[in-house]
Amino acid sequence: MCGIVGYIGDRPAYPILIQGLKQLEYRGYDSAGVSLLGEGMSVFKKKGKVSELENHIGNKKLLATAGMGHTRWATHGEPNDINAHPHVSNNGHLVLIHNGIIENYAVLREALTREGYTFTSETDTEVFLNLIEAYQNKEKLSLADALSMALSQVVGAYAIVVADDRNPDVIVAARKQSPLVVGMGNDEYFIGSDATPIVRHTNKVIYLKDNEIAILDRNEGVTIKDSKNVVQKPHIEEISLRIEELEKGGYEHFMLKEIHQQPQTVSDCMRGRLNNQEGWVKLGGMEEYGGLFENAERIILAGCGTSWHAGLIGEYLFEDLARIPVEVEYASELRYRNPVIREGDIVMAISQSGETADTLAALEHVKGKGAMIYGVVNAVGSSIARLTDAGSYIHSGPEIGVASTKAFTGQVTLLSMAALWLGKRRGTISSSRYRTLISALARIPEQIAETLKVEDQIKYIASEMTAYNNSLYLGRGYNFPVALEGALKLKEISYIHAEGYPAAEMKHGPIALIDENMPVVVVATNQSAYDKILNNIQEVKARKGTVIAIVSNGAKEISKFADHVIEIPETAEPFSPLLSVIPTQLLSYHIASLRGCNVDQPRNLAKSVTVE
Ligand code: AGP
Repeated sequence: MCGIVGYIGDRPAYPILIQGLKQLEYRGYDSAGVSLLGEGMSVFKKKGKVSELENHIGNKKLLATAGMGHTRWATHGEPNDINAHPHVSNNGHLVLIHNGIIENYAVLREALTREGYTFTSETDTEVFLNLIEAYQNKEKLSLADALSMALSQVVGAYAIVVADDRNPDVIVAARKQSPLVVGMGNDEYFIGSDATPIVRHTNKVIYLKDNEIAILDRNEGVTIKDSKNVVQKPHIEEISLRIEELEKGGYEHFMLKEIHQQPQTVSDCMRGRLNNQEGWVKLGGMEEYGGLFENAERIILAGCGTSWHAGLIGEYLFEDLARIPVEVEYASELRYRNPVIREGDIVMAISQSGETADTLAALEHVKGKGAMIYGVVNAVGSSIARLTDAGSYIHSGPEIGVASTKAFTGQVTLLSMAALWLGKRRGTISSSRYRTLISALARIPEQIAETLKVEDQIKYIASEMTAYNNSLYLGRGYNFPVALEGALKLKEISYIHAEGYPAAEMKHGPIALIDENMPVVVVATNQSAYDKILNNIQEVKARKGTVIAIVSNGAKEISKFADHVIEIPETAEPFSPLLSVIPTQLLSYHIASLRGCNVDQPRNLAKSVTVE
């Protein structure tokens, strides 16, 4: 997720752009850049935060009254000065910034290369920019028309701002699945990825719709066109949100915003990798090492905290669907053990930040022992991503809240696709099960959205749990790691001591803890172990414990015994964690909020543990 800002009017653009980028930095902070238009074009761009860009520009006198700015969350091409936006086209006249993913950029790049176009960066953005130039050159089109033609060729999601230094009175923007807002000032116009960089200048905005193009003309005003080039009547809204709220998209905390982003982020993780219509799953990084994966004797999943929990689910997935032995390792333990790593082993490192010191050290420890190292990472170009032989990015966008939520479901989504792909490749799942599971996985984003509707019920349950100082989370099978993850979420943001256990383990000790002061969250969506979980719930109730049960729609028996029943949609068992984790995320959030805890920056914690 990147930050986009644009301005055209009668004031110097640079201060407006740089201020806007600072407001948008929460969306991505791998690199930043600005381009100014008027008496030619200037472009300044730098790896790192917006402050790095400001230092790079120094006290240059920048008086141009039109321009654009971009703060990047890398998806294609690692964070560096060359891959930073804005990008300039081959003829040096067009400049563009982009938020989103052009899935078919490789094909477009090949075609443009054959036509003599050259590329300086690894980005999909630069490919798209030269496609616009190609249409301008071939068809002698206006910038807006050339953009429209180019957009008809791309597959993917985009929010784009483009300009031509031969006409500095016009800036053109377009969006599809990545938000863009136009700000309507007095004879000045603004563009933003959201309203954050705009509200300090005007509260009159137009939310661009998918496939719309906006032409911001200093003299003619704003024109909105649809994908058929038909002029649309702009719908101007007045917004009242305060700036600090806007950074969080109107949510009180980044964590809550990120919980609610999951339908989109899980969908983004699947984009271009899972095709339900044609019935296939593919991961470029794994295809590249297809033979190695197909003949692997073992997969070792390594990570820390939430990423380790994702690895535990990965173990169930790979062993269930691909019938390959899996070991899950705390990276901090793996790095200090003298592990037996053999040729033919595959070590998959799971990390949101890609900078966790223990995980990085574990990879360095095993790297020289003959295993293939694969990354499941969110942060593009991060140290772990760069250390691996290959990998798949989860495309969750920046995760600001210290408690990981959308990255967890992104990791589990990626591992689900990886296990499906490997099962198909190794012939360990039938074609019909493969097809059924693809359809089930494709539905997860909408089912997460459906699951989020239990939030009001969760708020009520949270109000009843806030006073407790202990809690148990129980689950079986695929939901055992969800019990661990739910317990981690609760303890790290509410400071309530919570433990996750395999439900069957209760009778081996923890049941001694059960009394009226011990709430027990039971993750009971499993179809396969339903009766067993029901017994566990009855054992807790028999000892006066309070039971909060997370069940799939229609689990009537459990409802007779649990004190609270949270019903969520049913999915194929291997993918149930993607839904059953949502109520545990919401529960921990609302309990912590009610306890007045600092949800986004809990005490003693850091977002990325880059030290031992
Ligand atoms: C999860 O909510 C925590 N913030 C923490 O356990 C985190 O998952 C762990 O530090 C690993 O971080 P990584 O995924 O960035 O490697």
